[in-house]
Amino acid sequence: MIKIAPSILSADFARLADGVAEAEAAGADWIHVDVMDGHFVPNITIGPPVVAALRKVTDLPLDVHLMIAAPERYVDAFADAGADILTVHQEATTHLHRTVQAIKHRAIRAGVSLNPATPAHTLGEILPYLDLVLVMSVNPGFGGQSFVPTSTAKIARIRRMLADGGIHDVEVQVDGGIGPDTAGEVTAAGATVLVAGAAVFGGVGTVAENITAIRTAAR
Ligand code: DX5
Ligand code: ZN
Repeated sequence: MIKIAPSILSADFARLADGVAEAEAAGADWIHVDVMDGHFVPNITIGPPVVAALRKVTDLPLDVHLMIAAPERYVDAFADAGADILTVHQEATTHLHRTVQAIKHRAIRAGVSLNPATPAHTLGEILPYLDLVLVMSVNPGFGGQSFVPTSTAKIARIRRMLADGGIHDVEVQVDGGIGPDTAGEVTAAGATVLVAGAAVFGGVGTVAENITAIRTAAR
C-alpha cells in the first residue's frame, strides 16, 4: 500500500491546522514537515515549536524532513516536539551513523535523505540501520519545482540494494515534483511513500481530489 505524505510547505502557514485537517480527512497517511535553516538550503521555514503545535491537532505520523546543517544538534528538540519520523540529509551530518543512532535512541523512526546528485551507493553502510530512505527528486529548498528525471532509476537502485542486502521494512520515500504525472513511474520503481506539496495544496482540485488523483496514478 502506497503512502501519501502531503507537505505542508505548500499549505497556508497562517492556517496550518486547517490544511492538516483537510489532508487527514482526504486520507493522507503522514504529514510531511519541511524544516529549513537558510544554511543547508537557501530557504528558512519552521522549527520545533510548530511541530509541537501540529502534534496537538493530528494523530497522523509527523514525518519531519530536516534540511538543516548538523541536524544532530536538534534530534532531541524535534523528538520532544512529537516527531514520529526524523529524516536527516546524508550531506549535512559528518557522523551519520551516530546521528541515526541518536534518532533511534528516542524510539522514533530514522530516515536518511540524498540530494539529487548524491549517488545511491553512498547509503551502502547505513542502510541496515534505517527505517526510511528519502530520495530527493528536486534540489531541496523550495516547493513547486520540476521532478529530476534521473530520480526514478535511483529509486530502483536503492530498491535493489535493499533486496540484495536482505533488508526489509524500509520505506523508500520520494520528495519533489510528485503529482499524478510522476506518481506512476516512481511507485513502479519501488517508492512506497510519496511526498507532495504543490500537487496537494496548490493543485487543480480540492485537497481531497488532488490526493485521490495521486493515489490513483500510483496504482
Ligand atoms: C523541498 C521539500 C519538499 C517540497 C516538495 O525542499 O523537501 O518536501 O515541499 O514540494 P513539491 O511537491 O511542491 O515539489
Ligand atoms: Zn521534504
